[in-house]
Amino acid sequence: MYGEMVLNKDELKSEIDRLKKKHKVTIVAHFYQRDEVFEMADYSGDSLQLAQLARDDENPFLIFCGVGFMGESVKILSPQKRVLMPKIACCAMARMIDKPYYLENVEILEKSGVKKEDILPITYINSSAEVKAEVGKMGGMVCTSSNAKKIIEKGLKSGKKILFVPDKQLGQNVALMMGLKSCVIGEDCDPKEADIICYNGFCSVHQLFEVSDIEFYRKKYPGIKIITHPECPPEVCQASDFVGSTSQIIKYIKELPKEQKVAVGTEFNLVNRLRKENTFVLSSTKPECPTMNETTLEDLYNTLVAIDEDKIVTEIQVDEDVAKWAKIALDRMFEF
Ligand code: 13P
Ligand code: SF4
Repeated sequence: MYGEMVLNKDELKSEIDRLKKKHKVTIVAHFYQRDEVFEMADYSGDSLQLAQLARDDENPFLIFCGVGFMGESVKILSPQKRVLMPKIACCAMARMIDKPYYLENVEILEKSGVKKEDILPITYINSSAEVKAEVGKMGGMVCTSSNAKKIIEKGLKSGKKILFVPDKQLGQNVALMMGLKSCVIGEDCDPKEADIICYNGFCSVHQLFEVSDIEFYRKKYPGIKIITHPECPPEVCQASDFVGSTSQIIKYIKELPKEQKVAVGTEFNLVNRLRKENTFVLSSTKPECPTMNETTLEDLYNTLVAIDEDKIVTEIQVDEDVAKWAKIALDRMFEF
């Protein structure tokens, strides 16, 4: 709607372009966004690339089409920037942990005989600013799916045990890659025996992929390449030909010959956009991220209208002290 006028898709797109230029707005979109939103972005990327691009962008306004923790990370890294989200949709995994749960898990470790000073926390970027801040206060840092192995490797050099939150799958996948011992709090876990102690969180979308899906495709198309995101269960990643972040998956597939068949275990919008032929979704259930899909072209347009009319309501705000500590945890990742 513009006043009382209903706009069709093309009109919405040209209005978005006009308003964006008028107010010096940069639009960024994660790969899991709907096609119509994704097409309007100045930049797209995985979580790490988007945090870097958005931080270094010079426009005063930034509209982040993604999920809450992504917009929050940009605001923390560039507090002077006005960061808006068309929908402040919260990643289901990030919602599995908050500050009280985080502190409770540190306490559980202490009760199991692991001293607080012997724990180095690392949080996946898919977590709230509050959790990042608590991790920062304990000397820890943030990682993303594209650098988790490197960050954990660095962390282990401290001689401490890693408390990895909130994604147990990513933590276990890195442990397997590095030949280390891991366990999940609440699941037959002796923290004294593990190098990486994982919080019991997961992604409801990537949890869907199963080894039986891999077996199905390997049987149907011998020679097919199985490509998965490290948020998938360890047994799925272990049975894959390639495991990587969203941008690493895109790069890997681009470098393959066109006739090479691939089955990809990650969010539907990305897989659907990859290439027209020889590409399959690694699941019989459509793996859609409900929160990533919340943002529509109309929402993006309405966010620009709100800037134009000075009636902004979906701006990201982060408490000053939380932002200070969360930034320390994020900067430690960038230092590496
Ligand atoms: P990437 O950083 O690989 O884009 O992953 C973000 C995410 O939420 C995957 O579910
Ligand atoms: Fe969060 Fe999973 Fe959606 Fe990624 S796919 S944003 S981890 S719920």
